[in-house]
Amino acid sequence: MAKKSNQNWWKEGVVYQIYPRSFQDTSGNGIGDIRGIIRRLDYIQSLGVDIVWLNPVYKSPNDDHGYDISDYRDIMEELGTMADFDELLEGMKKRNLKLVMDLVVNHSSDEHPWFIESRKCRDNPYREYYHWWPAEKGTPPKRWSFFDVEENAWNYDGQTDAYYLHCFSEKQPDLNWENPTVRQEIYDLMKFWFDKGVDGFRLDVITFISKDTDFPELPEEYNGDFIPFYANGPNLHSHLKEMNQEVLSHYDVMTVGEGTGIHIDRALDFVDEDRKELNMFFHFDLMDLDREKGQMFTMRKEKWKLTEFKQIHTKWDSVFEQKGWGSIYLNNHDFPRAVSRWGNDSESYWHNSATMLHTFLLTMRGTPYFLNGEEIGMTNIKFENIEDYRDINTLNRFETMSNEGGDPQEFIKNEKHAGRDNARTPMQWDTSPNAGFTHATPWIKINENYKRDVNVQAQELDKDSVLNYFKRMVAIRKQYGTLVYGDYTLLDPENEEIYAYTRTDSENSFLILLSFSTTENQFLLEGVDFEHARLLISNDSAPGVKKDPRFKLAPYQAVVYQLY
Ligand code: GLC
Repeated sequence: MAKKSNQNWWKEGVVYQIYPRSFQDTSGNGIGDIRGIIRRLDYIQSLGVDIVWLNPVYKSPNDDHGYDISDYRDIMEELGTMADFDELLEGMKKRNLKLVMDLVVNHSSDEHPWFIESRKCRDNPYREYYHWWPAEKGTPPKRWSFFDVEENAWNYDGQTDAYYLHCFSEKQPDLNWENPTVRQEIYDLMKFWFDKGVDGFRLDVITFISKDTDFPELPEEYNGDFIPFYANGPNLHSHLKEMNQEVLSHYDVMTVGEGTGIHIDRALDFVDEDRKELNMFFHFDLMDLDREKGQMFTMRKEKWKLTEFKQIHTKWDSVFEQKGWGSIYLNNHDFPRAVSRWGNDSESYWHNSATMLHTFLLTMRGTPYFLNGEEIGMTNIKFENIEDYRDINTLNRFETMSNEGGDPQEFIKNEKHAGRDNARTPMQWDTSPNAGFTHATPWIKINENYKRDVNVQAQELDKDSVLNYFKRMVAIRKQYGTLVYGDYTLLDPENEEIYAYTRTDSENSFLILLSFSTTENQFLLEGVDFEHARLLISNDSAPGVKKDPRFKLAPYQAVVYQLY
């Protein structure tokens, strides 16, 4: 393998994201828990993945399912205890699995003692932990909130006759990072978890942390798309550098930022190694591809184009050719299921499109992230009734829509494809009642297709299953560092049905062919040297190795050839 001087475990690892509420219930309350993850550790290990990213498990009143933290050093009661957590960490270490936690420090819960104090009176020592706007200054300049029914990020609090800022729900007040004491508190809590032995953090909306505390009127250009404004705070980079210096540089850990609003031209500002800020981040260009501009949760009317999909990945790959490092993902707990969105979840195409997408993620440069259930091709549940939804984002937007006299049917139509709950339905383990997730009533409905073959048990027994293909592909990525570090070259860029590229270094070269089409496809690939080629893997009956530049792929077929 051609070694770059800066190889790293977090570049070579495959990440498995676990949404704890939906993984495995053991306590019998219909909610997944930490002991459930412990019970499934051998399964996780059997996947061949290296790193687990755990969505928040801290103490929380659960307004936003754990993204509203009331104690950063304790565990949410529903999910277990600190003893359970310690046992989980130990079980992971025994299996050589790394554990990455979610760090949610743009905001806390309004039930955090800091905020309880802060709102008591204007001269409380915790007042400056949050952003307050005294009412005698008039109505504060407009700021948008994601989960507020009125989309207003300022909430009036009568107790001190002032407004506080919350870019998310009113139970998620934004912490004041411009206050050095707040930053020290955050560094301390990070150290607390690192000293326990956790291996890194995924940093929730980290781009939003810095604010101009004068709160000027939002510049005109950001009206209608405020995210890039939020992501451009005046001290963002100095805060990240300080965090690195004070905490991260003292441990061998990884960081992945939620890169909301990061423009590709500024990518290296965050992850250029010499700047000492973050290791990598999630960009949102792909997640925006089929959405209205500035609307993370509203689908565009027309379908997305494969040429654009390719362009996004090709552009982002080129950013990290020499410096920094990228991440690659097709879904997470905030977006619908990958196979339903980028593949095709109808029965005839489900297997091939799920495995084709696995092939894609595992043959690209950048650390690949999978959400639990993606390995077995879990699909969107597409709830018809608002009563079935659990996510604050859907529920509050539904209320906004009703208040504005919108069309509920249109709303649900959108939500069936765009809603976050699609990604949050319980893990499908087997064909027993409730898919083996719980003996109680699950906190959110389970996708009925677990009774078919979308479950772990059935797929473990079938050598050609989506799951077994996933394991084979992970093993292939592990075997060839070229797939991690090698150069990426896009072929046939104008093709709207086929994504073709090579990954190459001095030791190996791979040709990857992916069909994103429901029909059989013939195409011509000039200039590929097949002299020493061998077929490495395919999700369908693959064309053998040949010296002919004409290829024919079945619907959603994926093929990887090793060229030398
Ligand atoms: C991030 C999380 C999301 C959460 C929000 C507020 O976007 O991924 O789930 O709702 O931040 O914390």
